[in-house]
Amino acid sequence: MGEIFQIPPEKTPQHVAIIMDGNGRWALSRGKPRLAGHRAGTENLRRIIRASVEFGVRYLTIYAFSTENWGRPPAEVKGLMHIFENVIDQELEELHEEGVQLRHIGRLEKLTPKLHKKVLAAIDLTKDNTRLVLNIAFNYGGRDEIVYAVQNMLRDGVSAEEVNIELINQYLFTVGSPDPDLIIRTSGELRTSNFLIWQSAYSEWYITPTFWPDFDREEYAKALKTYAERDRRYGGVSDEHYG
Ligand code: IPE
Ligand code: IPE
Ligand code: MG
Repeated sequence: MGEIFQIPPEKTPQHVAIIMDGNGRWALSRGKPRLAGHRAGTENLRRIIRASVEFGVRYLTIYAFSTENWGRPPAEVKGLMHIFENVIDQELEELHEEGVQLRHIGRLEKLTPKLHKKVLAAIDLTKDNTRLVLNIAFNYGGRDEIVYAVQNMLRDGVSAEEVNIELINQYLFTVGSPDPDLIIRTSGELRTSNFLIWQSAYSEWYITPTFWPDFDREEYAKALKTYAERDRRYGGVSDEHYG
């Protein structure tokens, strides 16, 4: 374990969201197949979940598979499904013991019935845990989420006058989680890639060239320290900027 984490709770982000990118390049740089990178990424996820609990983060959202990732070669897609299934099989008990509440954001329908069932069982098992909410974005797309929300609002007979920001929040996959305070993207790309496009309206971003499997506790702590120094103005003016 590294240095003691020293950020006051009021400066710690309540909700951190992570675009876990760079597994493929991490593997290629080591002469390994891409799936080895995804496996290493999964190992790292375990460390970052622990660190989140340690640092006092209450909501962690991780981008594991996007609606666009179906366009990858079939062997990689199959491998990613397999890894997701293994993670549930191998980690669920420990996550449950650590007080982690699992939630899923995205569409489960497209997954195999077996995987679909496993995800639902994991959600049910951990539903009363309160230490950390872990939202797993798997087959998630921000645009798809908005389509899903609009469809359900129309099905429920919501009138035009009733539509407002709060109501839309209620219809998103992320209902029950506050907007992310901090979004981390590993591997250096400067784009959202369809992640939380509605919820990130006022999120702070931390982008690092580090590939996801190498994004460790120390770098996570650095991201949180950087966040603690940000001035979140939400379109207003902070006191020190008045003449
Ligand atoms: C992120 O790593 C994991 C997923 C998208 C599933 P990538 O697989 O995108 O890795 P790079 O970006 O090709 O290095
Ligand atoms: C975003 O990474 C999706 C996940 C991390 C799951 P991608 O690697 O799919 O994004 P692009 O293709 O670089 O935009
Ligand atoms: Mg990528």
